[in-house]
Amino acid sequence: MIEIEHCRDEVKKLLRRPIVLVGMMGAGKTTVGRLLATTLGWPFYDSDDEIVRNVGKSISDIFSEDGEPAFREIERTTIKHLLAAGPCVISSGGGGITIPETAQAIKDRGLCVWLDAPVQVLVDRTKGTDRPLLKHGNADDVLKNLLEKRKLAYGQAHIHVLDDGLTPQQIVSRCLLQIREYLYMHSAKNETEENTPDALCLTVTLPDRSYPIFIGSGLLKQPDLWLAHDLQGKNGFIITDYNVRERLADGLQEKLRPYMRSVTMMELPPGEQTKSFDRYQAVIEWMIDNNIKRDSVVFGVGGGVIGDLSGFAAATILRGVPFVQIPTTLLSQVDSSVGGKTGINSQSAKNMVGAFYQPRTVVIDLESLMTLPKREWLAGYAEILKYSLLGDADFFEWLEEHGSDVLDGDISALTRAVETSCHMKAEIVNQDEREESGTRALLNLGHTFGHALEAAAGYDGTLLHGEGVSIGLVLAARLSHDLGYLSAEDLTRVENHIRSVGMMSEIAQIKFKAPVTAAELLELMRMDKKADVHGLKFIILKHIGDAEIMPNVPEDVVLKILEDSLAKPDLAKSDSAKSGNGAGSLGRAGASS
Ligand SMILES: NC(=O)c1ccc[n+]([C@@H]2O[C@H](COP(=O)([O-])OP(=O)(O)OC[C@H]3O[C@@H](n4cnc5c(N)ncnc54)[C@H](O)[C@@H]3O)[C@@H](O)[C@H]2O)c1
Repeated sequence: MIEIEHCRDEVKKLLRRPIVLVGMMGAGKTTVGRLLATTLGWPFYDSDDEIVRNVGKSISDIFSEDGEPAFREIERTTIKHLLAAGPCVISSGGGGITIPETAQAIKDRGLCVWLDAPVQVLVDRTKGTDRPLLKHGNADDVLKNLLEKRKLAYGQAHIHVLDDGLTPQQIVSRCLLQIREYLYMHSAKNETEENTPDALCLTVTLPDRSYPIFIGSGLLKQPDLWLAHDLQGKNGFIITDYNVRERLADGLQEKLRPYMRSVTMMELPPGEQTKSFDRYQAVIEWMIDNNIKRDSVVFGVGGGVIGDLSGFAAATILRGVPFVQIPTTLLSQVDSSVGGKTGINSQSAKNMVGAFYQPRTVVIDLESLMTLPKREWLAGYAEILKYSLLGDADFFEWLEEHGSDVLDGDISALTRAVETSCHMKAEIVNQDEREESGTRALLNLGHTFGHALEAAAGYDGTLLHGEGVSIGLVLAARLSHDLGYLSAEDLTRVENHIRSVGMMSEIAQIKFKAPVTAAELLELMRMDKKADVHGLKFIILKHIGDAEIMPNVPEDVVLKILEDSLAKPDLAKSDSAKSGNGAGSLGRAGASS
């Protein structure tokens, strides 16, 4: 007896690319696709639904207002993006595969399955539906003619599954059997090793500005995977810093040239001081000198500093031009590149000038992290840990076991950590893009403490943003415990994990240029943007994986926590925080990052 469960497990083991269902309207691509995806435990995507979401119009309206060629072009890019999503099931529109480029992409990157059903079945299933191609003429004739025209295209599919009167569940079983057979026939080695997906794709879903986040190794060498068709052939402006230029941006510039009309590059000094009015002005003048147009594309290639500055420049030049985020530090890959916060610092406070401006695409190349200094890895890891603490206890548990693999650059551990973090950030941004309902504020876990520490340290490299967050997470966990929420056991787990991977955990580890008191830190917190008329506001952990916003936190409790952490004599000589050079110029803790 054939066991479908066993067959399913083998398909899951052997197939590392999307299953793409093609076929006529009414063939059951959506119903079967959904069921197949559920059976495999994989995501399901309907290319038509993705188009409606991305364009903000029904398929019918796109056809009538923009015409079929325009629709096919949107469909082509949509399917191309979906094909980068790794193992999943994609239901493609009935005519997609008739476009040679789309057909080639599906065959190259997916396993194409033709769901075939008799015309009468198709007629019955499409009765009363709003299909643009069925609006004119008798459905029977239209479907017959269409099938005749498209048969050749459908015949290119790897697998032909015939629906000769089956239930959806039966079709799924048949699909699984045929797919398994195909995989055995076509060398398991090819499927498991050489064709291992080189990219994942997540979507930040916003009303009219949804965008993909690509995660993978070697993505910077393959712009064809992520550079949307409508961004190609335009003038490209790369903004980067001295550290990133030779390592990554020069190579990217070369790879982009065949796709763009021109690609110019500006490099800036690394470091927080670059997020200034002066540098912003220099970037804007450089863009104007280089004849920037409304359809030009800005590529921000670097850490959070470059991402924030270039995003703000893209948001404001000509009232906004397309922006592609290419984060190259762990922190920027898991945090600052996703969510659309862009900006610069004022003389007196961090992130005070900025705009919400969503990128068109985020490209996370994990390979680019391999040249990152250890200290920056740890700083980025603080944000990863933050996501686990505020919303995913299982992820925290996984980090307890695999955190050191992530920090050692193990690609599969890194993929999971970056993907989970981006996924959580995307979900939160989906719910509360502009930090209005409070959901997005949860991302500030550990940041009220962290921002005050950064401000006291002077933004000159003495304390990295992620290091401030790392200490802030410990202090926030202690505060949660002292206020009666977090259990002693959970607090110990948080402290132990942070110390075990080598992250900073106490204020005493910071090499301030002049002594800092708990009262001064408290004063910096009062000036933080998140402190409002309701007094000090913190993100409190109820448990590991469960956080909430708490206004009016008693200052004496906070003060005691600061005093204790400042007075950890055993940690004061730690090497974790390296002294920076020059005095910092920003006195206030500033806005949330
Ligand atoms: N917009 C947001 O939502 C948000 C969120 C968090 C943080 N931020 C901001 O991000 C900034 C911090 O970002 P960051 O931690 O990435 O710092 P960063 O941009 O200063 O980068 C850190 C250092 O790493 C270097 N670098 C970058 N990529 C490298 C690579 N691949 N190999 C070697 N060196 C590399 C940089 O040149 C720099 O010296 C802060 O300004 C913070 O306010 C913004």
